[in-house]
Amino acid sequence: MKILGIETSCDETAAAVVEDGCTIFSSVVASQIEVHKPYGGVVPELASRKHIEAIVPVVEQALTDADLAPEAVDAVAVTRGPGLVGALLVGFTFAKSWAYARGLPWIGVNHLEGHINSVFLTPTPPPFPFVALLVSGGHTSVYHVTGHTGVELMGQTRDDAAGEAFDKVAKMLNLGYPGGGIIGKLSKEGDPAAIKFPRPSLDKKAFDFSFSGLKSAVRRHIETHPQAAEKQTADITASFQEAAVDVLAYKLMQAARVKKCDHIAVVGGVAANERLREKVTALAREKGLSVHIPPIELCGDNAAMIAAVGYHYLKEGKRSALEDDVFSTTRMGI
Ligand code: KG4
Ligand code: ZN
Repeated sequence: MKILGIETSCDETAAAVVEDGCTIFSSVVASQIEVHKPYGGVVPELASRKHIEAIVPVVEQALTDADLAPEAVDAVAVTRGPGLVGALLVGFTFAKSWAYARGLPWIGVNHLEGHINSVFLTPTPPPFPFVALLVSGGHTSVYHVTGHTGVELMGQTRDDAAGEAFDKVAKMLNLGYPGGGIIGKLSKEGDPAAIKFPRPSLDKKAFDFSFSGLKSAVRRHIETHPQAAEKQTADITASFQEAAVDVLAYKLMQAARVKKCDHIAVVGGVAANERLREKVTALAREKGLSVHIPPIELCGDNAAMIAAVGYHYLKEGKRSALEDDVFSTTRMGI
């Protein structure tokens, strides 16, 4: 089954064609970074307007890249939530209309389940059950994944998401937007042991995260060492990154141990972070676990992961209705 996937939950307009939830025919992502850069963060109203401009050309490009006529598409999957409501509505309304006009089945899916299913677009996907760490700009959670559409939330952040912490630290140091990738690159030149930032693990037996204390510690360090902050920017970012990565990797390993899972996954925008990939891979090797981390282009927001999870809901016989609406808040399921 060839599915056209559409994603507009935040600041990327994306479309993809994926067969049977695993084979990518095409994946197009139009980023709005340049639009939001001057504001240091995503401006929801501008995001919606840019999605409106981009959606038709991006979908056409996805079909062209897949070398498919619209008639060859079997179904449509689109992000229903969580995300920015105005942004979601552009993709959701487009998908509804596109499918309705062609008499095709369509399904609105959960963006977070999309990220989790991104590992099934890799050559060696994990068997069920596995434990997944989802780290993005809006979410930091650990799940026990028992099926393509079945997950149990084990823990999540009580305040900032990991990506949000990266972005805020980059802002404090005037490094630019979006900060995650910039911190990742700059940190290669720094000493991760230069500054001992806290590793907020909260209750060691639970799987909740907290990044606001770490973020405040970085802010305090910058305020109390203004000159060092200018000369030692790479040491600060490397030390911050090391602390954040330590906590993420530690919780993921704990979760795998508690659930007795031999397979672990890291998904979402922050999964592009080289140090996180390195640390999780090294710890997993020590513990004899198999690691599944998608290639960089499938870590950030994309529509291939939406088509992948959509396929499994459609296969279960689920369909969305024309009167269905988007949702902004975090929840699982469709
Ligand atoms: O999954 P994603 O593209 O969008 C959301 O669903 O939120 O994640 C975006 C987040 C941003 O906070 C960005 O700074 C972060 O992922 N990010 C990174 C890296 N690349 C992107 N964080 C750390 N290191 C990176 N290399
Ligand atoms: Zn995302």
